[in-house]
Amino acid sequence: MDQSPIAVNEYDLFRRYLEDACGIVLGENKHYLVTSRLKRVTEEFSFPSLSEMMHTLVKGNDRHLREKVIDAMTTNETMWFRDVYPFEILKKDLLPELAAKKAPIRIWSAASSTGQEAYSISMAVSEFQQSNPGKLTSTVEIVGTDISQTVVNQAKQGGYDELSVVRGLSPERRDKFFRKQDDKWVIASDIMQRTRFTELNLLNNYSLLGKFDIIFCRNVLIYFSSEMKKDILERMGQILKPGGTLILGGSESPTGYTKAFGMQRYPDGVVYRLNDL
Ligand SMILES: C[S@@+](CC[C@H](N)C(=O)[O-])C[C@H]1O[C@@H](n2cnc3c(N)ncnc32)[C@H](O)[C@@H]1O
Repeated sequence: MDQSPIAVNEYDLFRRYLEDACGIVLGENKHYLVTSRLKRVTEEFSFPSLSEMMHTLVKGNDRHLREKVIDAMTTNETMWFRDVYPFEILKKDLLPELAAKKAPIRIWSAASSTGQEAYSISMAVSEFQQSNPGKLTSTVEIVGTDISQTVVNQAKQGGYDELSVVRGLSPERRDKFFRKQDDKWVIASDIMQRTRFTELNLLNNYSLLGKFDIIFCRNVLIYFSSEMKKDILERMGQILKPGGTLILGGSESPTGYTKAFGMQRYPDGVVYRLNDL
């Protein structure tokens, strides 16, 4: 196969395609990154050249190819209890407040990757229940969504190899919340049963998911344009219950994009609360 980097006009075409398909904005100088990632897909689908793969891709009739290209271009990097503070705030501040309302609690992990975020939320709920017996009487449902079918399927299976199970997880939590099955660590059923995973592109409509008390939307907005960030943040505001909480990645903020949220500081860190109308 031809090893030369993607041509300038095709790179521009691909940038527009990717932004329309999933919101990801590629910089001006990512020709080599794009070439190497797309080369794998070109080979997998046995196209004679990257150029021919690109032409089939932009015609838009091959759903499987589109999924593989998005998979190749997205970063699925994640870990257990990523950044620690969101899960501390959940246990110390948000769950006590929500538990007192005695209504079903719904939490959305909006770019859930291979499931570590959603399952960490479920583990935090179990830890809250254990240290506050009888306080949390309502059900907790955690919905994990991601654009990539591959990672959604991995999340649903809930099985992790030795390398991924240690990233962010103490041996105590591993032994408490997983069981060993052959060469995998599998999420315990009480942690899994609060969660469900489904494919969802954040550019599409998500009002069908229902209303949430808390949205975790972490380490994904950084890839999107300002217009896309504004649109997603405002639509997330519309599916949060009154006073609901938005938890973003450490380098992300709604400031400058929408006035729907106000900053809430807790001893462990910062989250965003939906403002009253
Ligand atoms: C870096 S991971 C973050 C995972 C997790 N939230 C965390 O903070 O550890 C970003 C995830 O966003 C997903 N993603 C990218 N674009 C998306 C879109 N338009 N809609 C939904 N998910 C998207 C990717 O597939 C990837 O799994």
